Order: sequence, then structure tokens, then C-alpha cells
Amino acid sequence: MAVENRKILVTSALPYANGSIHLGHMLEHIQTDIWARFQKLRGNQCIAVCADDTHGTPIMLKAQKLGMTPEEMIAKVSEEHQADFADFLVNYDNYHSTHSEENRKWSSEIYNRLNDSGYIKTRVIEQLFDPEKQMFLPDRFVTGTCPKCKAEDQNGDNCEVCGATYSPVELINPKSVVSGATPVMKDSEHYFFDLPQFKQVLQEWTTSGALQSEMANKLNEWFESGLQQWDISRDAPYFGFEIPGTDGKKFFYVWLDAPIGYMGSFDNLCQKRDDLDFNEYWNKDSKTELYHFIGKDIIYFHSLFWPAMLHGANLRKPTNVFAHGYVTVNGAKMSKSRGTFIKARTYLDHLHPEYLRYYYAAKLNDRIDDIDLNLEDFAQRVNSDMVGKLVNIASRTAGFIAKRFDGKLADGIENPELLAEFQNAQTSIAALFEGREYGKAIREVMALADKANAYIADMAPWSMAKQEGMEQKTHEVCSMGIHLFRILMTYLKPVLPQMAANVEAFLNAELRWDNINDTLTGHEINKFKALIQRIEPAKIEAIIEATKADLAAEQAAEPQAEADVSTGANDELAKDPIADTIDFDTFAKTDLRIARIAKAEHVDGAKKLIKMTLDLGGETRQVFSGIKSAYKPEDLEGRLTIMVANLAPRKMKFGMSEGMVLAAGPGGEDIYLLSPDDGAIPGQRVM
Ligand code: MSP
Ligand code: ZN
Repeated sequence: MAVENRKILVTSALPYANGSIHLGHMLEHIQTDIWARFQKLRGNQCIAVCADDTHGTPIMLKAQKLGMTPEEMIAKVSEEHQADFADFLVNYDNYHSTHSEENRKWSSEIYNRLNDSGYIKTRVIEQLFDPEKQMFLPDRFVTGTCPKCKAEDQNGDNCEVCGATYSPVELINPKSVVSGATPVMKDSEHYFFDLPQFKQVLQEWTTSGALQSEMANKLNEWFESGLQQWDISRDAPYFGFEIPGTDGKKFFYVWLDAPIGYMGSFDNLCQKRDDLDFNEYWNKDSKTELYHFIGKDIIYFHSLFWPAMLHGANLRKPTNVFAHGYVTVNGAKMSKSRGTFIKARTYLDHLHPEYLRYYYAAKLNDRIDDIDLNLEDFAQRVNSDMVGKLVNIASRTAGFIAKRFDGKLADGIENPELLAEFQNAQTSIAALFEGREYGKAIREVMALADKANAYIADMAPWSMAKQEGMEQKTHEVCSMGIHLFRILMTYLKPVLPQMAANVEAFLNAELRWDNINDTLTGHEINKFKALIQRIEPAKIEAIIEATKADLAAEQAAEPQAEADVSTGANDELAKDPIADTIDFDTFAKTDLRIARIAKAEHVDGAKKLIKMTLDLGGETRQVFSGIKSAYKPEDLEGRLTIMVANLAPRKMKFGMSEGMVLAAGPGGEDIYLLSPDDGAIPGQRVM
């Protein structure tokens, strides 16, 4: 008997096929899996599909570096990814690849439909070209000297030292990362998807559904700042699909065929199952529901390009797009050097997947906030909730049932009100799962677990058992414990599928949403076996150590500058020699001051920048700094640093920058902000 009867297709973003799955990815896959399992348990047809995202320049170059064909590399990576997901109990109905016949077919079909309807435009653009490799260079494959501050070795599109953004053509001494050659400018005809034609459709889509408010706000900002045509073509050599009618010269940009990969994976599944009809799910007037779970970094692709492409190709649009925030570990961005860039496999080598599933569930909500995996809190929370509260209910009562009552539950219900309270919670808990408020659902379940434990402690079956004439009461109390435990485990089944299966074996009964109101009176259960162990802190240490060892192995394979720890010697000066001598007066022109970081915030749309309000002891300055890859705004607020106070203000894309803060390091995670010793106060001059 089904509780509901909807038809739902859900997806997770397709992971790139050039790297391992890490605990950041796992947040998304666990979030999707819990939702899909919940829907299935509710009696809905819910299909969950995913695939590897296999195309593009980085994947092509990585395969070359490994001495493999891209096909070989993506096959190997796909196997790894699928093993990681399976071992995390993430249960996709289909896991496919964007390098598949289904995806090729749909990419061409959608492109042709868009082209026929006049949504594809062409124009010639000028781009940096590597004359040695004979290939056009994406921005991130060009480095050079920043045109603004002259810092060397900066990215193709922005400077990590001064935060300036520019086009790679403005770089001084640009270099191809691929060959080291000096790129030249070259013309090429590109194909564009004419997004501006879809403004009205997209605005309607934004207001028609129940988009997350943060997402609706973002979309409105994008509508206001104006939609741009989207460059969907890349020149050969490129690992991807040829654009029809271009004679093998032009390829679809990876982001064109990536979301179509959702359809490709579903199409592939339809060929394996006769109960699924592809068109029923994708036709323009489809009555089915389509949801994409994604991270906050790819909202633009999923809420603008993708619905517009679908609409333009006369197909259905997503019912909704659910974005989540980023995983941080111990309050900071996942970092290789801190050992917190933890791969899924490294975790699995040491810990049970359901610990992490539980912890992520306990922290997830329907918003786009980042989610912190605090490793100490993780162990503590899992141990106290899962072991101390949940399993405790069964382990305190099951023994009596087995030993004294032949493994049979009592015929009567000792406390019908309490049982009803547990059963009635199903409505609100279901609504919380449906609304992706898993954290609230878990809190409700744990509040009930507390009640169950309090009930058992009050009744104290262990002393009751010793009293004469209390045989039946003891039996009923212990049976109550089992009834309550069964209901809680039913609620947690989407989160803890393996534990739920073990509990089903123990209870000799299936945990189903539609039989919560039945009672197992007089039912025979099996012997109770330990369901879960506590997390030992040593295991977490071992994960961090293994992650650091991984990094060391990577670095050994790819030698790079490392300090000799014994003497402090390194090659920093060789890489960046000391500059020409200046006289004191020249130096004294630079007015360095102690500043307190009064406020630090993310800058919408800026990948590397943090906006800071610096307090100079009364006066404040606004400074943009490219340190986001190494610092979180909340960790900066309140600390002292040193700023160049008399630098001419500079207008940047995101506002005026009135100075700069001092930092060392090559960039990325390795940026080290300067701080004064204790005692310095804001406004003091640094000489
Ligand atoms: N290939 C594209 C997606 C194409 S979808 C048609 C991509 N791949 S990815 O491997 O970089 O990221 C896959 C998903 O993982 C994205 O939704 C991304 O937001 C998510 N995450 C990657 N790192 C993450 C964290 N640290 N935390 C949470 N999610 C993160 O983007
Ligand atoms: Zn610069």
C-alpha cells in the first residue's frame, strides 16, 4: 500500500572524471540519497541518476600527463567513483557517463533544436593560442605577470596578490601552462547560446516554483545585471562531442553536454527497465517531477543555462533546483596540507559510512549555508546519539525478551499514549524530510529517543524482573522498548540503510513507512547483535594522517619546492630574487599601519576576493584582497594585520579598494597574512 504515488527523477551534480571523490562531494550524494530513499519508502516512484562528467580540457590534459587515452582514464575513474558511492551506501538507480551514446544523441538533438529555432549565434573571437601545442588556452591554462601590481606567476583572469581581474590578453609575459610557450592571439569562430532571448521564460520559472530564497535573489541580481550570450563551442583538440555540421573542427564546451548527461543517464536506464518511459519524464508537458541537487558554485548553470536550453528545445524544465553549501572541516576550507582534504576512500578505510551519513543528515537543512564537519563534534555526536541514545533503547531491552520470554514480544501494549506519540510523529518527520530539513528531522527523532530512554529508566525492567508477580509487566515494558525502537529506526531508514537492514533482521520485520501504525504484539524477534560501535578518536587521527601521507606521495611524484627543515634552506630566493636596492626615503614613502580587521565578508561573484573593513583606530578603509582560498571571513574578523595605508585607491569590479594588506606565500591555500606581536594597536605606523 503506497502512502503517495508521485513520479520523481532526482540527480546529483556529475563529478568530474579527473579526480577522486572527497567528503565535500559526499555531502551532496548523501543529501540526494537520503531524499530519494525517503521518497521510495513513501511509496513514490523515485529514480536517482548520476554520471561522471568526462569532457573538457583539464581531463584531456590530465590523461595525456598520465600517458593514457581519455577513454582509459575516465573508465578507471568511473569505477573508483562508483565504488566510493556504493560503499557510502549511496544507491543510484543508474550511474552513467557523459561520454556515452545516449548523451551524444541528446546533445546533438538539443543543439539542433536550438539551432533550428534561432537560439544559436556565431561570431569570431580572439583568444590566446599555444603555438607549440597547437591549441587554444582556457584562462586557467595561462599565467603571467599581473598588469596592475606586477606580481609574477598570476592566473589568466585574476591576480591573487592584488585581487585585480583582467582578461588573459592583458597579462605581461603570458605563458602557456601546458607547454611554457608564449601564447599568441588567434581568431576563431565560436558558437553562442542566445540566453538573453530566455529572460522572460526564466523570470517566470523563477517565480513559478518554490526556489530557495537565496537562489531567487541571486537570479534576480543576474537578471538585473543582464544576461549574456553563452560561448558553447571549443576548438579541436578537445575531448568532447563534435558540434553537428562543423566537420570535426568544433566541439561542445563541457558544460553544454554535462547537464544533458542527466538525460543521457536516465535514457540509459530506460533501456534497461521496461517500467520507465523516457518521454513521460522529459516531454514538455510532463507531469513528473524533476529535481537537481547541486552545490552553490554551479547555480548559474542549473538555474539559467539549463532551464533555458530545455525550454528552447521544447522539453520540460526542472521542477526545482536544490543547492547546498560547501563542506568545511574544523571551520576551514578543506586543505591538503592540514590533512582535511579527505577522500571518500580514505574515510572508508577507517570508519563506517553511516557515521558520516548520520552527521551530515544532522547538519543539513534546506538552505545554501556552508556545513562544517567538525571532527571532534562528529565523533562526539555520533557516539552520543547513535550509540548512547538510539541503539541503547534496543540493547537495554532486547536481552530480556530473548532470555526470559522466548524471543516473543508481549501481547499487550504497556503505554499506548507513548506509542501513539511516536507513531503520530510520522507526519511532521515526513514533512521535514520532504523539505530537506534533515537536521530538524533528526532532532525530532532524537527527542523521541530521549523519551524512550527516560521511559525505560523510569520503569527499570532490570529491577522489575526481580520482583515477584511482575513478569508480565516486565515483558510489556521491554516490548515497548522494542516497539519504540522500531518506529525510530523506520524514520531513520533513509539515513541509515544498513543499520535499518540489520534491525529488520533482528526484528524479523520490514521497516516500512506504511506500517508504522501496526504493532508487533506477540511477534517473534531474533537475537540482538551489536548494531554499531563507538567512534574511537584514534580513527579520526588515522584519517588525517593518511590524508597527509597521500599529499606527500603526490608531491613526491611531482617534485616541487620544499624547505629543508634542518637548515631552513629553500629555493624561494632563486624563484623570486631580491629586488633592486632603494634608498630609505623611497621606502619611507610607503605608509604601513597596524589595522584591525573590523569586518570581513564574501564578495558575491568573486572567486578569490574577501572584502575587509580595516579599522585604523577610528578611521576605516575598505580593502579587497585575494585571500579567500586561504582564509574564511569569520576567522579574520577581529585580528590585527598590517596594511599599506597610502596606496592610491583603485576601482575594482566589485567596488573601491583603498589599500592592501600584507601577506606572504605563493597563493592558493598558501597565503600567510602578517600580524604584529601582542601590544600593537590600530593606527600605529610600522617602520
Ligand atoms: N562537473 C561539474 C558538475 C556538472 S553537473 C551537470 C562539477 N563537478 S565537481 O566535481 O567539481 O563538483 C561536483 C559537485 O560537488 C558540485 O555540486 C559541487 O558543488 C560539489 N562540491 C565540490 N566540492 C564541495 C565541497 N567542498 N562541499 C560541498 N559540495 C562540494 O562541478
Ligand atoms: Zn596584481
